[in-house]
Amino acid sequence: MDLPWGDERTRKFVTNVGLITSDGPNGPDIMACEWTHHISYTPGLIAIVVKKTAATNANIKKTKEFGVNLTSTEQMVMSSIAGGSTGKDIDKIAALKELGFSFYNAKKIKTVMVEGAALNIECTLVNEIELHTHTMFIGEVVETHLSGKASLAFHGGKYWKLSEQLPKPSDKERDHMTKVIEKHTKK
Ligand SMILES: Cc1cc2nc3c(=O)[nH]c(=O)nc-3n(C[C@H](O)[C@H](O)[C@H](O)COP(=O)(O)O)c2cc1C
Repeated sequence: MDLPWGDERTRKFVTNVGLITSDGPNGPDIMACEWTHHISYTPGLIAIVVKKTAATNANIKKTKEFGVNLTSTEQMVMSSIAGGSTGKDIDKIAALKELGFSFYNAKKIKTVMVEGAALNIECTLVNEIELHTHTMFIGEVVETHLSGKASLAFHGGKYWKLSEQLPKPSDKERDHMTKVIEKHTKK
């Protein structure tokens, strides 16, 4: 069965928005990608899922590298612009620069990276998996930069900031949970 865009069930997920930077046949480009996931610690691996018709897809297939820039809470406009047109038609990097956003040159790969992102990760491609309409690209982390800015959250088609940590269960509740878990130890 399908789980379509905008559907009530699809809208239960909470994700980051990765701004994916690339260079290649479509020139320097940036796209918004909510399907950006950290999937391994050792080595550090990042999976992104990019539609087959995106300029970014062709760029990554050619160059075997991409930048992941996790949007900060100050960059929702950047996310909307990066996700609102294709690099096949629009030089989004130039437009974003004119709108006051800044980029720097990646250290280990040949793309630009987003200044002020919550986290910048330079990746080299280690695997690609063709899905129905999209490709999952798995990149190994080769360089990172941490800005200290908070990550933007994406949920229900809207942008959010995380502001409240839920309280932990009380000591009494935790003691009770520990006892119940121990009671169910497999022999
Ligand atoms: C917040 C947001 C999240 C998005 N997430 C994805 C995603 O995970 N995968 C995808 O293929 N497109 C996603 N898109 C759509 C692409 O960013 C859009 O198709 C873009 O035009 C592709 O740019 P390109 O052709 O320059 O690569 C998202 C758009 C927005 C605004």
